[in-house]
Amino acid sequence: METKISEIADGIYRLSTYVPDIAPPAGFVFNQFLVLGDEPLMFHTGLRKMFGLNRDAVSRIMPADRLRWIAYGHFEADECGAMNEWLAVAPNAQAAHGQTGCMVSLNDFADRTPRVLADGDTIDLGGKRVRFIDTPHTPHGWDAGVLYEETTGTLMCGDLFTQLGDGPALTSGDVVGPAIAGEDLFRYSSLNPGMGATLRRLATTAPRTLALMHGPSFTGDGAAALRALADDYDRRIHASLIDAGFAFERAAA
Ligand SMILES: [Fe+2]
Ligand SMILES: [Fe+2]
Repeated sequence: METKISEIADGIYRLSTYVPDIAPPAGFVFNQFLVLGDEPLMFHTGLRKMFGLNRDAVSRIMPADRLRWIAYGHFEADECGAMNEWLAVAPNAQAAHGQTGCMVSLNDFADRTPRVLADGDTIDLGGKRVRFIDTPHTPHGWDAGVLYEETTGTLMCGDLFTQLGDGPALTSGDVVGPAIAGEDLFRYSSLNPGMGATLRRLATTAPRTLALMHGPSFTGDGAAALRALADDYDRRIHASLIDAGFAFERAAA
């Protein structure tokens, strides 16, 4: 396996590792995003077992011990499994996540005390500025959230828009159709009535770049893509409620 590096927005690097054995024959990618600044931030730590690959990739961009902030979408191995390995090699680094995530997992899991971010809180990275947005249970995880980098208009959207395959680092093509296919295959989202509203709220940031954890980064009208994804989840949730209603009526009959 190798980790490919691409600059997907000014000063934001995508570190991408393709694993052909997951969902073959298309395979699956795992991406982290390194945001450069006076206080560099990484979004996602990568899997613990991929730490060596990712540390070497970061070291091709900057000394790994310069890392100051480590953030992620939600508590899962690919999002934050290597947290303590990064804290060990970067003595000034601090984990940062939402209130729920810190309370439920990170206060215990991280080897150093994390910074707790309320919904809408920002971290000034010096040259870049990231805003934490709570997205509970969307696409999954009570602690779920995303980061929006304000100077480049880049939404680091974690598992949202998950797709198969090893596409280009950056595309202006369709990311909604492949995301719908990814949801059909993996069923990874916690379908919830607030999901469409959560995605439409993200659309109000009008992102110019969507940084996908599992897929290419997208450049273009990010708000339109988020609204289209919201529409599909509305359709999916409506259909599942109707199915549940029919099942309930049959059981009651
Ligand atoms: Fe996930
Ligand atoms: Fe993920």
